[in-house]
Amino acid sequence: MQTILPEDLPHRERHQLLLSGVAPRPIAFVSSIAPEGNVNLSPFSFFNAYSSKPPIVAIGPAIAARTGRAKDTLLNILEHRECTISTVSYSMVHKMNIASAEYPRDVDEYVKAGFSKGASRLVSPPYVAESPYSMECRLVENIEIRRDIGGNGNLMMLEVVAFHVSDSVMVDGKIDPHKMDLVARLSHGFYARTSEIFEARQPTHLCIGFDALPEHIRTSEILTGNDLARLAYVPVLPMLDGSFPSFEDTFRADSVEIELNANNPLGALYAMLQEGKQRDRALRHRIAKAFIVNNQIDEAWQTLLLE
Ligand SMILES: Cc1cc2nc3c(=O)[nH]c(=O)nc-3n(C[C@H](O)[C@H](O)[C@H](O)COP(=O)(O)O)c2cc1C
Repeated sequence: MQTILPEDLPHRERHQLLLSGVAPRPIAFVSSIAPEGNVNLSPFSFFNAYSSKPPIVAIGPAIAARTGRAKDTLLNILEHRECTISTVSYSMVHKMNIASAEYPRDVDEYVKAGFSKGASRLVSPPYVAESPYSMECRLVENIEIRRDIGGNGNLMMLEVVAFHVSDSVMVDGKIDPHKMDLVARLSHGFYARTSEIFEARQPTHLCIGFDALPEHIRTSEILTGNDLARLAYVPVLPMLDGSFPSFEDTFRADSVEIELNANNPLGALYAMLQEGKQRDRALRHRIAKAFIVNNQIDEAWQTLLLE
């Protein structure tokens, strides 16, 4: 493990080191208006939400370290106190990249990057019509970051005054993250696409936690930290259920290995009992792991408790 002090690195390396760890970052596609009326559009991945009552987001348009020039977005929002932020779907990402080049202030990046303008309701800058989700924002406050030591960052706090959500991403009255297909920025030129989406519900109960896992489970060589966490999530330490496992008379299974390869943990459990291998702890843990993969946490626990 390396320990690196920020002051030991040149700016560019420090920048990439920071961005490698603070990732993936959502992308704000920010539209603002210059004093002469020119519309601006640029992406910012120093972006997140900080409050929902009221809805507050923040972006970080910098003073460019290389040129010392303030980003047009920063100057425009300081002047007009308004902007829109559109999210970036995969279908928009390469066009967005074109908008990120440092064009002169009078260039309209909507035109350069082939985007169309949606008419905002409460602020003057338009939003990106191709984006499934946009926000109209007003400036709350801009914090200049550590100018006393030559800092070049800004923390622009913005209040969202209107949301625009496309019907195309709505399913049963909710925004479907699969349909949003958002991208995020990593370090250097890398991006992530949210095509592999999974659910990990925040517990509303107190979990038993790792410390309550029986020793033979906690020290498993088969179960990973994530597997153990799925077991430790339960509110009460499960007890062995004498009726587990129960199989219909007609239940049939191949060998343990074939059933595990077919991702059929119940079949594997049946075969394990048929083959008289119930004392094989590693095998029970493999079957439990297959139950966990299938989100069958009760069955995973019961298999482990067959100890
Ligand atoms: C995905 C992406 C994210 C970016 N994030 C930031 C950022 O958070 N802060 C920043 O100052 N520049 C960021 N940039 C660079 C700006 O988009 C770029 O400097 C742009 O030309 C600024 O335009 P403007 O001067 O019209 O505001 C990012 C670029 C890309 C492609």
